Amino acid sequence: RQQMMIDLDTGIDDSLALVYLLASPEARIRGIASTGGNVTARQVAANNLAWLDVCGAPDIPVALGAEAPILDELRTSEETHGPQGIGYAELPAARRELSPLSAAELWVKLAREHEGTLVGLVTGPLTNLALALDLEPRLPEMLSRLVIMGGAFHHPGNTTPSTEWNISVDPEAAKQVFDAFGAAETHPLPIVCPLDLTERIILRPDDVSALAEVAGVPGEVIAPDDPLGERSTSPNPLIRHLSDAIRFYMEFHRAYDQGFIAHMHDPFAAAIALNPHWAKTRAATVDVELSGTITRGTTVADWAGMWGRHPNADIASDTDPEAFLAHLVERVGSF
Ligand code: BDR
Ligand code: CA
Repeated sequence: RQQMMIDLDTGIDDSLALVYLLASPEARIRGIASTGGNVTARQVAANNLAWLDVCGAPDIPVALGAEAPILDELRTSEETHGPQGIGYAELPAARRELSPLSAAELWVKLAREHEGTLVGLVTGPLTNLALALDLEPRLPEMLSRLVIMGGAFHHPGNTTPSTEWNISVDPEAAKQVFDAFGAAETHPLPIVCPLDLTERIILRPDDVSALAEVAGVPGEVIAPDDPLGERSTSPNPLIRHLSDAIRFYMEFHRAYDQGFIAHMHDPFAAAIALNPHWAKTRAATVDVELSGTITRGTTVADWAGMWGRHPNADIASDTDPEAFLAHLVERVGSF
């Protein structure tokens, strides 16, 4: 089993990524970092704890991350993920305390305990990982794999015309992480799952029905003409919560002219963390624009070595979206 440290800004698709990993026998989640992004770090931490309770995995340590990005004020995105970050889902409040460690400290502790075998996954801003690098500069060599959901290399972005949310929220942290992973050649390159690819992973209402069917509670329907805010009545609490979260996400995508669908950014990155073969990748040198007046937070990839710098990322550039969605539905449904 893969020993994992995961860092989320939970978030609807982060929630699905978490449930997917909990449902995966190949994954052993050793710790969860909560980063401010979609909602505040405190709300993210509450969401992480609550999902663990719902999923019957209460013993995984959940650490609170930095409450703000390295330089900017925290921006959150309630219109995308709902007031609490989990759409219409109403999870029972968690009964457990947060870890006494900060998210950065938890990263370092787990990297030391599982040196050479720990797989890291970040599906939110890179603030905690950047702070962890300050504490332990050897981190790039200590991880067996790092997967990041973030960036948009061919534009348009989903936050500004050229930026993707996770990088845009904390560009300094993102640059620090990419620079650190480019500084040494003794470790595998982080795998970056950018918007260019994750927007091709499209969950549809039928997939939610299929998921419920796999779970043995058929008849779950999210219909485009349902009234806004309709709730699931599924007898299975996990299906009910997921369906309520996903419904909100589909309504959001429709409001932004993307159709009554939901992009599965973070579940895709989670799957890559377990099995990189889900994507074709291309090595490149990634850098982050910090000072542009209209491009701050833009990720730029040098595919051709024009900068003369060592590659610092394997950028996921192609996949089989239908095969992945079938896998996601099957895995989460059979949890
Ligand atoms: C990323 O932004 C967040 O809103 C999602 O959870 C995902 O991690 C996509 O740009
Ligand atoms: Ca996220």
